[in-house]
Order: sequence, then C-alpha cells, then structure tokens
Amino acid sequence: MVSEALDIDNMPRGGPDASWLDRRLQTDRLEYLDRDDSDDRKRRVIRALDRGEKRLGQHDLMAGIVLDELRGVPDPRILELGAGHGGLSRAILALHQSARVTVTDIDATSVADIAAGDLGSHPRATVREMDATEIDSPDRSYDLVVFAQSFHHLPPRPAARVFAEGTRVADKLLIIDLPRLPPWRHIVQSPLLLPLALMFPVVHDGYISALRAYSPSALRTLARYADPAIRVEVRRSAFNLRGRWELAVASR
Ligand SMILES: C[S@@+](CC[C@H](N)C(=O)[O-])C[C@H]1O[C@@H](n2cnc3c(N)ncnc32)[C@H](O)[C@@H]1O
Repeated sequence: MVSEALDIDNMPRGGPDASWLDRRLQTDRLEYLDRDDSDDRKRRVIRALDRGEKRLGQHDLMAGIVLDELRGVPDPRILELGAGHGGLSRAILALHQSARVTVTDIDATSVADIAAGDLGSHPRATVREMDATEIDSPDRSYDLVVFAQSFHHLPPRPAARVFAEGTRVADKLLIIDLPRLPPWRHIVQSPLLLPLALMFPVVHDGYISALRAYSPSALRTLARYADPAIRVEVRRSAFNLRGRWELAVASR
C-alpha cells in the first residue's frame, strides 16, 4: 500500500522518483498569498494575476478546458476552489449559458472582493469561503470541481486531501496547475527572475510557485495516497502560446 510505504510529508515535489538535482530545486518558502502578514501584497498579487490572465486570454483558455471535461452534461454544476479573483468562473458563465458555478477561496478578503463584484449578483453564481482540503458540501453535489493554479500552494499531505475531497463531492476533479520545470530551466531562469522577484510581489510568488509545482509522478502518487480507488489521468493542456498547464483529471 502506498500510504504505508510512503513518507508523504517529505515526498519531493518532483515525486518519489525525483532526481538528486530536482529534489534541491524546491522550497518551503511561502508565497505572499500564503502569508497572513500582508493583505496589501496579497491583493496586489491577485490583481496582477487577474490582469495578466485577462490580457493573455487565459481565463477563456482554462474555461474551455473545464467545459471540455463536461461534454454531454447539460446543466453542469461546477465548484471552483482557490478562485482568487473569480476570472475563471466568470469566463465559464459567459461561455456556457446554463452552467451554475460556486466560486470559492480560502481567503476571506478575496471572497469578499469577488462577492462585491459582478459575480456576487450573478444569477448562476454562488460566492463562498471554502477550504479545498475540507470541502463543505455533501457527496456528489457537483459535476466537476476545478482548482486552477493553486494546487502547488499545498504541501503533500493537504494536497492529497484535495484529491480525496474533490472526488468525494464531484464526479470529476480537475486540477490545472503550473508544470514542474526541468532542472536546467530553473537554473537558467533564476538569475533573470530573482532581481525581479525582489521588486514585484507577483514575480516573487511566481518564482516560488515554479519551485513548488508538482510533477506528473507526484500528482499520481498523491492521488494514490489519498485513496487507491481514485483514477487519475495527468496530461499537458494543448500547445498554446498564451498558456500551457499540467492537468490532472481524477474520479472514483
Ligand atoms: C495563485 S492563486 C490562483 C488564483 C486563480 N485560481 C488563478 O488561476 O489566478 C492561488 C489561490 O489559492 C488559494 N488557496 C490557497 N490554499 C487554499 C486552500 N487550502 N483552499 C482553497 N483555496 C486556497 C489562495 O487563497 C489563492 O487565491
């Protein structure tokens, strides 16, 4: 059994089979988004993410990935975890005329900001605070749960809980996250990014995110650790210059 043999808390972000170098290219340092000491920086990161994703059309790209997973489901019920700014939920609602979306985040300020905007009064949206590791919904309440660009925030044990919880409350859990870069990419880009990370909170968080991204083998191991009955398919999203992600689609 994986759960008996594996030291889950110390599993490398590159997975149990990660190379010596890959194991060194990770960090426990927190992003501003994970810290409680600076609401202002958190808000700046969330706003910068929203602006950047809007400019690149990434909200629509990710919404397309979500809706592809729901083909054949007439009026899908979708739960978005870690919504941050709500851009993905807004794009889903615009692209699908009968989808209902529950837009959530663990951060109370982000949830209040989303609720104060258009999604707060959208007839097919509900805005709520929610922890992805402890989803406050009955079994099978949704057709799909999506957790976009957020999974890497969680250390392995709570990350495995997301697999357990997401596949409990929905038929499908879709994780969309940054791909884990090969070691040479970290080594080449670090000298370029580090000075910018000191100046711009969003680059600071992006740099840490890249070091915390899980590899396909880590994602499969976390799903198996959560419950061997969970089936997971890990793949890259289609090639697109505007954005390309690691996808994990899990179900029971
Ligand atoms: C990098 S932002 C991503 C925001 C948005 N999904 C996007 O793609 O731009 C990560 C988000 O995950 C949220 N988050 C972190 N841990 C979480 C948890 N345990 N449950 C729910 N959301 C969480 C943070 O509050 C933050 O809003």
